[in-house]
Formats: sequence, structure tokens, C-alpha cells
Amino acid sequence: MVIGAIVAGGTGRRMGTAVPKQFLKLGKRTILLRSVDAFLACDEVDKVIVGVPKEWVTFTKQLMDEAGYGEKRSRIKVTEGGSNRNETMWKITEYAVEKLHADDMTVMVTHDAVRPFVTDDIIRSTIKMLVACGEKTGVTAAVPCTDTILRIGENAEVVETPKRINMMQAQTPQTVYLGTWRKVYKKLSAADREFRTDISGMYISAGLRVKVVDGDRGNSKITTPEDYEAAKRRVQDEEERKEKQDNV
Ligand code: CTP
Repeated sequence: MVIGAIVAGGTGRRMGTAVPKQFLKLGKRTILLRSVDAFLACDEVDKVIVGVPKEWVTFTKQLMDEAGYGEKRSRIKVTEGGSNRNETMWKITEYAVEKLHADDMTVMVTHDAVRPFVTDDIIRSTIKMLVACGEKTGVTAAVPCTDTILRIGENAEVVETPKRINMMQAQTPQTVYLGTWRKVYKKLSAADREFRTDISGMYISAGLRVKVVDGDRGNSKITTPEDYEAAKRRVQDEEERKEKQDNV
């Protein structure tokens, strides 16, 4: 079984809107729905589990009911998220085990709800890489760094400038076998559960390896109001282009 695990349990503090950013509109759909659309469209994904803040569970179920998914609606489950990203992922995992009888070899394609431009290609390539590499591996999408990265010490002093050629920026999807991820999570300290926000650090410290597949610069995360404005412009352009094509 392959499960799309969409983490949407955050409150969007840096975005600063009253509504958590995953529920903001991007063209005709919400940011969250765009992410769910991409996973539902991928025929390798059997089920999609969305983890949202507790007080948004009922709203989200209704959002999915009214999204026009038809028969595909039954592939989507909504559950309560946690107090940090890892805890949301954990709750999705437990839901998968308890309600969907997912086993250790279930592939979990974890994805930030607020990366609504994820492509079918990236989803598929993370699954393919994981299956090829086996249980002791995790897979992340990533893109090369275009800026030089500075490692900062105390008093805002630069202590290292790692070679840019060796630097990549992590994205999601990050794809794991459920059994391996569960073991890794259970061994993490409370601090690591809170601060290790991607699988790479967790897996490497557990002696496992992480493979990278090509992400896409367009698969960016909506974090700030500027990101949201750029995403809205992009969708508006897309919709205008489509309208023109439809009218030809
Ligand atoms: N996330 C989650 N559960 C949490 C916190 C975050 O599922 N308790 C999810 C977010 O909903 C988002 C993804 O993790 O899809 C990436 O996190 P980020 O962009 O940091 O989102 P927020 O935590 O909502 O934003 P902020 O840090 O600004 O509050």
C-alpha cells in the first residue's frame, strides 16, 4: 500500500493570517486542496491521509466532501494533527496502522500541505527510489542551492561556508517505509521530535541513509505573505492561460 501523508497541522505563524495558511485560497481552490489534488491524481497512491489542527477536522472533512472528487473522495481520510510537524506525521501514521491496517512495508509519501505545486513526477520518483533502495533508506526531494550557505556561530559570525556544489535544499515529498519511520520516531528525544523537521537528520542519526531525487524549484513552500502573493500570481497566470486555450 502507498499512502500520501499530507501534514497540514500547522497554524501558519509566519504567514500571520487568521486562518491557517493551508486553508487560504489559491485561485479557485485552497492550498490544501491543490496538494490533495496532486496525490489523488497519482494512481500509485492508494490513500491520502490529511492531518489538520483538531479544531479544523470537521471543516476539512466538509472541504473534501465538496471538492468535487466524486468516487475518489473515499480515498481521502482526515485526522487530527499534533503540536509539531513530526507529531502530525506520527498521528497520520497511527491512523494508517489502526484504521487502514497499514503494515511496516507500507510506503508513506509525506508531504507539506503548503507545497501545492508538487508534481506527479516528483511523487512517483520518490516512491520508485524508496522501493529500489529498501527499508534502511529514506528518500527526499531536493534542489541544488543557488545561494551560498553560511553557517553562523555566536555574535552573528560566519564559521563556515560549505562548498555550494555540495549543498541542496530539502523539499517534500519525503518518502519512507512506515515500519522504519515508526522505529526512528520512537527513539527520538522530545527535543529532536520538535526540531528535526525533515527525515534526513532523523534517519542519518539513526544510522540509516537518505537518498535524494530531483525536486523542482516550482515545488516551493508557502511560508510568508510574499510567498503567498507569488503563488497567487502564478495560479492566476495559469488560469488565464488555460482560459485562453479553452477559447481557441
Ligand atoms: N505542520 C503540521 N503540524 C504542525 C506544524 C506544521 O502538520 N504542528 C505542517 C504545516 O501545516 C505545513 C508543514 O508542516 O504544511 C510545513 O510547516 P511550516 O511551513 O513551518 O508551517 P506552519 O507550522 O504552519 O508555519 P509557521 O512555522 O510559520 O507557524
